[in-house]
Amino acid sequence: MIGWTKGFTAEEGRVNKMALEDKRQLEQYLIEQFEWFHRHPELSYEEVETTAKIRELLTEAGIEILPYPLATGLVAVVRGTGKAPDGSRKTLALRCDIDALPIVEEAEIPYDSESRGKMHACGHDLHITAGIGAALLLKERSEELCGTIKFIFQPGEEDARGAMKILETDVMDDVERIWGFHADPTNEVGVIGIREGYVTAAVDRFGIRVKGIGCHGAHPDDGIDPIPVAAAIIQGLHTIVGRNVNAFHPALLSVTKVQAGTTWNVIPGEAELEGTVRTMDREDRVLYERRVRETVEGIAAAYGAKAEIVWIDSAPATYNDGKMAQLCEKVAQSQGMRTVPEEMSLGGDDFSYYMEEETMGRQIPGCYLKVGTGVGHPIHHPAFCVQKRVILPAAELLAKVLEEDLKQ
Ligand code: NI
Repeated sequence: MIGWTKGFTAEEGRVNKMALEDKRQLEQYLIEQFEWFHRHPELSYEEVETTAKIRELLTEAGIEILPYPLATGLVAVVRGTGKAPDGSRKTLALRCDIDALPIVEEAEIPYDSESRGKMHACGHDLHITAGIGAALLLKERSEELCGTIKFIFQPGEEDARGAMKILETDVMDDVERIWGFHADPTNEVGVIGIREGYVTAAVDRFGIRVKGIGCHGAHPDDGIDPIPVAAAIIQGLHTIVGRNVNAFHPALLSVTKVQAGTTWNVIPGEAELEGTVRTMDREDRVLYERRVRETVEGIAAAYGAKAEIVWIDSAPATYNDGKMAQLCEKVAQSQGMRTVPEEMSLGGDDFSYYMEEETMGRQIPGCYLKVGTGVGHPIHHPAFCVQKRVILPAAELLAKVLEEDLKQ
């Protein structure tokens, strides 16, 4: 194991021109840490060893860790002593999520998961390592850095509530802009996906309980069969996107769980449905909830049944600030990377909570980019795998983007 030595030097103004030997040493160090994190995946809010390791590595490098009340995750800070051209000194944040998924790993790699049934299948091990790398690089350049960077190592992204837990602390109070990133196995290493505007969707979840009256399978006239009601509700819900939402707006509804009955000759008293709604546009989100309620209640009433609906709002859509997206594009290209338009996704990321007025207390600009990790299995797949040669360039890109954004 090689240790982190603070011997490497960045040439004036350019971390990417770091002496080759130092760069190789940093890369080797980061790869070693990445493999450790990959071998030790921990689920949402159980990231105890992960947190301890991040703390150890940052502390070793002389990076300050802020007081923080949560059990897992941490916030580190690099304070620059330089000044922006306009004399300002801003505070920016980089969000790195740290949790893993309950998946049995099938990737054939020498550093596969040591906890069977848990796996870094979403690349958060890369997020941790690239975040640490960026912190090390910026720490070395703190004299040139025109402000403060907070590194938010966030727990519980996979359960979509980790960002809200961070927002309950005061660590975001002085942050003016926030950056986030995600591993992207649809692109090769060296390709950065970036887009202005919406990039991930608002995620809502619903549960429906259809209440009928159970009876003998041979005498449906004695009861109210909830199964045809549930079937009609499913059909009705699927018309919302085609008949109520603007055809140019990305949106979808999926019914993902249907449950009713216990045997072949008994009509059950109840049927249960669950599903998710994904929207980009705020008004579509409101429209969807109203139409789901109207459709479910109306159809149930038409069949003489009753329906209960539980609606759970999760993360809002992520909206990339135009100026930040342009800055990222420019910096990535200056680092020799290729930029491509980021694919919009109806997947969600709780990163969006950091930018929302409702949850953050004020609206702040943010930008979420996709880092190509080598074309392969999709995220959340049991054989998902990040190519390790992306780690150093990702760290360098993030460091440079943050450094340049402080000057804006
Ligand atoms: Ni993820």
